[in-house]
Amino acid sequence: MKARPDPLAGTNAGARTPDQDMPPAALDILFTPLTIRNLALRNRFVMPGMQRGFMNDGAPSPKMIEYMRRCAAGGAGLIISESTSPDHPSGYWQPVMGRMERGTMRQWKQVVDAVRGEGAGFLLQIWHPGSMRRVADGHPLARHPALSPSGLIQAGRGNGRAMTSRELVELKHAYVQAALHAQELGCDGIEVHAAHGYLLDQFLWAETNQRDDDYGGCTLAGRARYHAEIVGDIRKAVGEDFVISFRFSQFKEVDYGATIASDPEDLRGMVGLLRKAGVDLFNVSSRRCHKPEWPASAHPDYTIAEWTRSMTDAPVMTCGSVGLNVEMFANLFDDQEPSELMVEQDLGLLADRVRRGTLDLVGVGRMHIANNDFVNKVRAGRFRELELFSKKTHLMEVFENLEPGFQEEGRRNVSVE
Ligand SMILES: Cc1cc2nc3c(=O)[nH]c(=O)nc-3n(C[C@H](O)[C@H](O)[C@H](O)COP(=O)(O)O)c2cc1C
Repeated sequence: MKARPDPLAGTNAGARTPDQDMPPAALDILFTPLTIRNLALRNRFVMPGMQRGFMNDGAPSPKMIEYMRRCAAGGAGLIISESTSPDHPSGYWQPVMGRMERGTMRQWKQVVDAVRGEGAGFLLQIWHPGSMRRVADGHPLARHPALSPSGLIQAGRGNGRAMTSRELVELKHAYVQAALHAQELGCDGIEVHAAHGYLLDQFLWAETNQRDDDYGGCTLAGRARYHAEIVGDIRKAVGEDFVISFRFSQFKEVDYGATIASDPEDLRGMVGLLRKAGVDLFNVSSRRCHKPEWPASAHPDYTIAEWTRSMTDAPVMTCGSVGLNVEMFANLFDDQEPSELMVEQDLGLLADRVRRGTLDLVGVGRMHIANNDFVNKVRAGRFRELELFSKKTHLMEVFENLEPGFQEEGRRNVSVE
């Protein structure tokens, strides 16, 4: 097995020989509980939002309900739903994408009950594609243009148009309504998706936010004002017990090298603003959870998630390539399949970071798809029974279920490692 470069060499994580099973005791910290508002998590493992193509016209199918139940029974402390559109015609373009609206609530209730019944917490992820949405000409949904801060997918590349002030208010109400529906269904909270190059990330990224009203600007905090309003309005509507998570990333699906925060101070402005508005948990998504963000800074080994944690009293979750040697985007879009399991090494490093107080929660994506009982296997030290994730084996169904003519905007990536 190949070892990751280990910036914590000399601590617990470095004490093993590379091909030895990790004694579960070294990971004990990952099995300690954590409470966020009214949500008591049984451990530090999270299954992050992942679209599976199991929705029937926006509503969870029986297959989705059973899948979510199985993942919760598999031991994760927290399950986050796949990206789900609020009730707005510009918010989705595929029948297999989740929608939170009156007509889908009965099936969503079954997901919430199934997950919570197995002892995991559950957050609904609220998402909007922004300019990444492309609907085939002639389809009824094509009447609604793709909406975004400035009509851009990335510099020099347009789709749809900039949102008017009225549309900004309308969509904010739709986010609040989705959160209220989630609360009515018994969810523990919601997650505002502002990552990976979709609508709310398009506001955070200077390249796609060229607005000259209150929602643009040259600082990240300035470009996060719309998010702060959405979070603040949700907080007012749902009260004090309900958890609000905020997911962001530096990278975009269309540009791996993109950044929303140019330096730690820029990041600090956004984190402070959102925390004040009502965010309880920062879910920081990266392609590789162990990659230092600003190596020439005062904390050369801090990842973007750890930088975030250093700026807030709210818990922080990391996510990205836990247990796998190939990151998600190269895996899904460039067909590079993982060839090595890195579970013991990665969890060892992350456990040390939780112990030193620079992280709180660990997101495990694809390895949860391949092993719905990932957490139970890790807890039992059954690492050798873990199955390696493969797009070909575990995900073809997602791609097969997409309707032709409704594709996401294609990727035009800047090549970076
Ligand atoms: C099939 C698939 C679907 C995904 N869908 C979503 C999504 O709906 N919302 C989201 O925030 N991230 C989504 N992601 C990203 C994951 O939440 C996670 O950040 C990513 O897979 C990296 O974690 P991993 O390396 O552990 O897989 C998806 C990932 C995969 C593999």
